[in-house]
Amino acid sequence: MKILSVVGARPQFVKLAPVARAAREAGVEHVIVHTGQHYDPMLSDVFFRDLGIPDPDVHLGVGSGSHGVQTGAILGALDAVLGEHQPDWVLAYGDTNSTLAAAVSAVKLHLRVAHLEAGLRSFNRQMPEEHNRVLTDHAADACLAPTQVAMDHLAAEGLAARSVLVGDVMTDVLHDVRATVGDGPPDALTAMGLREGDYYVATIHRAENTDDPERLRRIVEGLSTLDRPVVLLAHPRVAARAAEQGLDLAQGAVRPHAPLAYPDLVAATIGSAGVVTDSGGLQKEAFLLRVPCTTVRTETEWVETVQLGWNVLVPDPSAIATAVTRPAPGPTSAAPYGDGRAAERAIDALTGPA
Ligand code: UD1
Repeated sequence: MKILSVVGARPQFVKLAPVARAAREAGVEHVIVHTGQHYDPMLSDVFFRDLGIPDPDVHLGVGSGSHGVQTGAILGALDAVLGEHQPDWVLAYGDTNSTLAAAVSAVKLHLRVAHLEAGLRSFNRQMPEEHNRVLTDHAADACLAPTQVAMDHLAAEGLAARSVLVGDVMTDVLHDVRATVGDGPPDALTAMGLREGDYYVATIHRAENTDDPERLRRIVEGLSTLDRPVVLLAHPRVAARAAEQGLDLAQGAVRPHAPLAYPDLVAATIGSAGVVTDSGGLQKEAFLLRVPCTTVRTETEWVETVQLGWNVLVPDPSAIATAVTRPAPGPTSAAPYGDGRAAERAIDALTGPA
């Protein structure tokens, strides 16, 4: 049995970590292909190092570009790689351009393709991630879903027969990393003079928030008025857009900082008074660590975090301060994202009887 994983962007490296381990433990041959969509060391190499992921077997080195150019470059490069390796399964992760290219390349070569984190929907057809996940689910032979809600979406689209509820692999990673980090903020944040419980963590990187200058300006303004320092972990996209727009990110309470390695991000979140983000992963990590989250979007794929009271959607940036200072939610023992063994189930689903 040979599984070939295609990854390219930061959240996919996090998801790859437990899958690579589960594949190793199951004695499955596992080939890792890095598309090169993310190439900055802080968005790529540190995840392989910190999460104990084997080095990629193949690196396509595609880099940045418009959606069509980037997706097309990956698609063009994958044909030869998949043809050479002839895996039993191609495994695509999440909702990036690397995901879609992997799925299309595999189906065209008549190779079986599985989609990990299948069935998530924002129902917002303006989002590139929504295009990628819908198209990938419909191309896939196996849809490996993280939640019951995702299973329901797949069923509603006629995909129930090929769907399996495995749980969320990001929960697997978070459980492991949580056990290795302390309770206080990481050194990078204490060096900024930040104290436990007395700062917020913010990340903003989605196109709908960064690419409209007026919207980005209003988001930074919303963060600047918060009652505690806000560590804004600036993804290259937001740093680049702010520079192009002549927008100073270091306003009021906002303290810009480079992206953090994964264990430091977990520690920073644990030590914070709250999270403000448009990242899917961080909404869920905040919930799993029971840190209140405010999401600067009109909708979320991780609806359980909102239903359980730990996440609030704030489409209007001028409402960020009110949302962030809301009363703390009540405790919950709900576990909609699984038990931390999703990767094992994903590998079982692919290696089990056809
Ligand atoms: C991608 C995913 C998004 C995911 C995010 C995680 C798509 C459509 N989007 O968005 O779903 O949440 O990754 O971070 O696939 N850049 C760098 N260095 C890098 C990577 C990007 O400087 O290593 C800059 C470039 O200016 C590039 C821009 O960021 O043009 C956007 O990068 P890209 O990979 O296209 O999308 P992300 O915004 O990272």
